[in-house]
Amino acid sequence: MEASPTTSAKPILTLTVNPALDVSTSTERVFSGHKLRCGMSRLDPGGGGVNVARVVQRLGGQTLAVYTAGGPTGDAYRRLIEAERIPTLAVPIRGSTRQDFTVDETDTGKQFRFVLEGPELSDEEWRAFLAVVAASIPVGGFVVASGSLPPGVPKDFYARVARLSRECGARCVVDASGPALSAALAEGVFLIKPSLRELGEHLGAALDTEASQIGAIETLVADRAAEYVALTLGEAGAVLASKSAIIRLPVPAVRVISTVGAGDSFLGAFVLRLAQGHPVEAAFRAAVAAGTATAMTPATELCHRADVERLEAELAAAVF
Ligand SMILES: Nc1ncnc2c1ncn2[C@@H]1O[C@H](COP(=O)(O)OP(=O)(O)OP(=O)(O)O)[C@@H](O)[C@H]1O
Ligand SMILES: [Mg+2]
Repeated sequence: MEASPTTSAKPILTLTVNPALDVSTSTERVFSGHKLRCGMSRLDPGGGGVNVARVVQRLGGQTLAVYTAGGPTGDAYRRLIEAERIPTLAVPIRGSTRQDFTVDETDTGKQFRFVLEGPELSDEEWRAFLAVVAASIPVGGFVVASGSLPPGVPKDFYARVARLSRECGARCVVDASGPALSAALAEGVFLIKPSLRELGEHLGAALDTEASQIGAIETLVADRAAEYVALTLGEAGAVLASKSAIIRLPVPAVRVISTVGAGDSFLGAFVLRLAQGHPVEAAFRAAVAAGTATAMTPATELCHRADVERLEAELAAAVF
């Protein structure tokens, strides 16, 4: 890893309006009709923005994580995130924080992910969340809005966050899909990190050739929908578009175990390196390194700092 060009990083705020208590376990084989005896279970405080905050923390940075919490699952969630010593603001809701369930099938190496919808937020609740966000946006810093919107939250929620961020001179980063992503792009943001599936859905196009992928992200930048578009391609790496260049990076060769949280890790490392004052090319390398480092860890476990720094250095030394 390159030495940090600045001693004090710019502040980062992460938002998680639909967090999930991640429950993960394993079983020999998933089938119907019988009880499935499972192994040990693991609990993690998940959901886009909180995962980004946890990755930033692991890589030596800090964020303020704003999230919703309600019911007994919300209490458990709060305890888990507090145990990780991440500075947080929890916005209380009446419904119960959702749970996600991941099962690794040990006989086959397959993974089953059950992702629940999340509790409905009332008008008052999402407005209270937005008010907390508005009061917490770091001037000159980064705001990372990541993850799905739960029922009751308007589709332009991230677009509103983007507007508030711009008014405060903060750079807004959005990792979302469907109408929430489209509305944010119509408002204009600093960075988006769609996967191929998410970008294809947004454009209503298959994007099955490299030329169509590059054309699509170049157009978003030219139209000022986003200053940077980092299109992630899973095992095929990622492509970054800015107004001055297109950069493509493959993933370093690693043994892949579970890709849960890879996208959040990508985003966490990207934003942290930018906040630390690194050039965008270096931040992009760190992002691919962190996504890949998370793919090396089991179940919902996120990347380890030593792996990220090793892969980051490998990518910096490689000639593509
Ligand atoms: N199988 C893999 N092998 C190595 N690296 C991977 C793999 N899958 C993901 N990654 C890393 O994580 C990054 C993000 O992955 P991906 O494109 O799957 O996004 P995602 O946000 O996790 O996807 P989605 O939101 O659609 O589930 C990739 O750019 C890559 O660096
Ligand atoms: Mg993703």
